[in-house]
Amino acid sequence: MSPVRLSKNVYWVGAVDWDVRDFHGYETRRGTTYNAYLVIDEKTALIDTVKHAFQNELVGNIQELTSLRDVDYVVVNHVEKDHSSSLPSIMRYAKNATIVSTRRGRDGLTKYYGGGDWTFKIVETGDELNLGKRTLSFVEAPMLHWPDSMFTYLKEDEILMPNDAFGQHLASSQRFDDEVDQAVLMDEAAKYYANILMPFASLILKKVEELSDLGIEPRMIAPSHGVIWRSNPKKIVDSYVKWSMGVTGRKAVIIYDTMWGSTRRMAYAILDALSSRGVETRLLHIRRTDLAEVVKEVLEAKAVVVGSPTLNNSMLPAIGSFLTYIVGLRPKGKVWASFGSYGWGGGAVRKINRILKEANLDVLEPGLSIRYAPSKEELQSCKEFGEKIAEKIG
Ligand code: FEO
Repeated sequence: MSPVRLSKNVYWVGAVDWDVRDFHGYETRRGTTYNAYLVIDEKTALIDTVKHAFQNELVGNIQELTSLRDVDYVVVNHVEKDHSSSLPSIMRYAKNATIVSTRRGRDGLTKYYGGGDWTFKIVETGDELNLGKRTLSFVEAPMLHWPDSMFTYLKEDEILMPNDAFGQHLASSQRFDDEVDQAVLMDEAAKYYANILMPFASLILKKVEELSDLGIEPRMIAPSHGVIWRSNPKKIVDSYVKWSMGVTGRKAVIIYDTMWGSTRRMAYAILDALSSRGVETRLLHIRRTDLAEVVKEVLEAKAVVVGSPTLNNSMLPAIGSFLTYIVGLRPKGKVWASFGSYGWGGGAVRKINRILKEANLDVLEPGLSIRYAPSKEELQSCKEFGEKIAEKIG
């Protein structure tokens, strides 16, 4: 895709990856983009590169606008390879360019690519780089997404380039938020936040405050994945604040697996009780739903109900895998509960609750276990269990 103008002499020069469906385990059903930006002034700066497989597209886009030999600075906001793995190729052409990064960024780039005779300029929060009529200003953003991460702000144009923050895995022929379906956009933005940035919620809240303290109120937010927020950048910032604070509607999600249908019957009874109490509830079979989608539903739910029958004194493997993933993402401010059927010794519900409690999550105890298949009376217990969950979330 050819360069796209953001403002005078500021261009998107990245690549659209229509085909990717697995981004180190994150199911990217709508593909993604690797965004890089070019600012042409008395000095020319390239902000970020793209995944190695797309380096020719990046080079081609830059060459439509200027010669690579005229690139003075390559700003590396983040060393993860989806953004940095074209750097060695770029530096082969842009022989006079200085790489601008955080100290950890330089260390990461050197470890990944050797560094050779590259010249680095290390920047910290508040540092500025004059390009002529324009100025790049830098804000360190450790853990958003890696320790090396930083944001770059193009002051005169009021364009914030925060790399992974505020992104979406969304391939599109369009480059701006107002050109795509809003429901799809916010769905992908929420999924991206939930799967990538949820563990760093408290850092996000601090960073939003810091940007405001620094007087950064962007007219445009140009992330490293997906479309650029130009119509209302506050919309995504406000959404990040809401998600980071754990604000949800009165919603529940039931995530379950089943062997012979008993745990599924329990799930439906719990669902009935929750919805009869006015709780909007989604039911997700863990092996029939993308894990990234499941995690997005967790982000938006106030109650998360996990169901598994017992297998070998434990839970079914897909539920174990889900718990391992979700605990690492440190979701905030939710009520958790578990249920499941068993044949003889049981164990699934006990183990699910143990994992949740060890992660300091708020667990409704005891969980609900039923032998073999739920009787009429036991289905009533499931409904009462659902009602308890509804009460707990208020
Ligand atoms: Fe898009 Fe942390 O890389």
